[in-house]
Amino acid sequence: QDKIQQLMEEIKVLKKQRRAIILSHVYQRPEIQEVADFVGDSLELSRRAAETDAEVIVFCGVHFMAESAFILSPDKIVLLPEQQAGCPMADMVDAASLKARKEKMPGAVVVCYVNTSAEVKAESDIACTSANAVKVINSIPRDKPVLFIPDKNLGDYVAKKSGRNNITVWEGYCTTHERLSRAEVVAAKEEHPGAEVLVHPECRPDVVELADAVASTTGMLRYAGESAANEFIICTEKGILHQFHKRYPDKKFYPASDKLVCPNMKATTLDKVHRSLVTMEPQITVAPEIRERALNCLERMLAIK
Ligand code: 13P
Ligand code: SF4
Repeated sequence: QDKIQQLMEEIKVLKKQRRAIILSHVYQRPEIQEVADFVGDSLELSRRAAETDAEVIVFCGVHFMAESAFILSPDKIVLLPEQQAGCPMADMVDAASLKARKEKMPGAVVVCYVNTSAEVKAESDIACTSANAVKVINSIPRDKPVLFIPDKNLGDYVAKKSGRNNITVWEGYCTTHERLSRAEVVAAKEEHPGAEVLVHPECRPDVVELADAVASTTGMLRYAGESAANEFIICTEKGILHQFHKRYPDKKFYPASDKLVCPNMKATTLDKVHRSLVTMEPQITVAPEIRERALNCLERMLAIK
């Protein structure tokens, strides 16, 4: 405990010296969320990265998020304290296979989930996150075919929500959310009959069907505050429980399964954040020609309010 406190104090001092801002996704370890200047979902983190006047962004999340921060703020130093923190879903599509698929679908609009590499964004028309995916789809003329990459579960959800039948979905998925089974959610509902079920759209469609609310991580946090219910079953990565307990100490939150842990999100530790602020490594950058095209894709998304 003392060591944690000491590291947190040192990080705060270093952060000032380096004129750095620490951004944390809600799936990060509690102590990382506590030391961060801002905790949010991927959409909010992108907006913060685009707007900040800090000189250094310490991104406590996974690789594609730090890349997006650099794409939006190329004059800043972007640090990813654990370079190996990737996203298995983002790795399920690469630029070459996307190009090959696009050739078979001339005229299709490519919508990419932000959980993709910069190279893939450079080959896509517009990005989305789970918070704005339906809005992004609705911004595309209804008669235009859409290729949605890489999350088949989010793709299935937006296709149902938008009522379009011209959305082709890539075969990717989140290895963490995909682990949650319908049977586990049914069992949790039996155990907590008064609880509402909050589901992230990266979950399988048969889990999404059981939801009282389907939402991004921020959407879930907002919903729990506004709902009259006092108990909630949470179908997303367990790191978010720190925010639920902190914001609504009088309400009860139950993770739908103990399997809901993303090892990549947990790879960032206080030690690594401290080290990255001392060494200013590992820095994440994107080559200029890729960055420019990927920026168009992200800016089109950010223009949608
Ligand atoms: P959101 O924070 O946008 O809901 O993203 C979920 C996720 O899996 C990020 O890796
Ligand atoms: Fe990727 Fe899923 Fe982990 Fe998010 S939770 S970083 S989508 S593997």
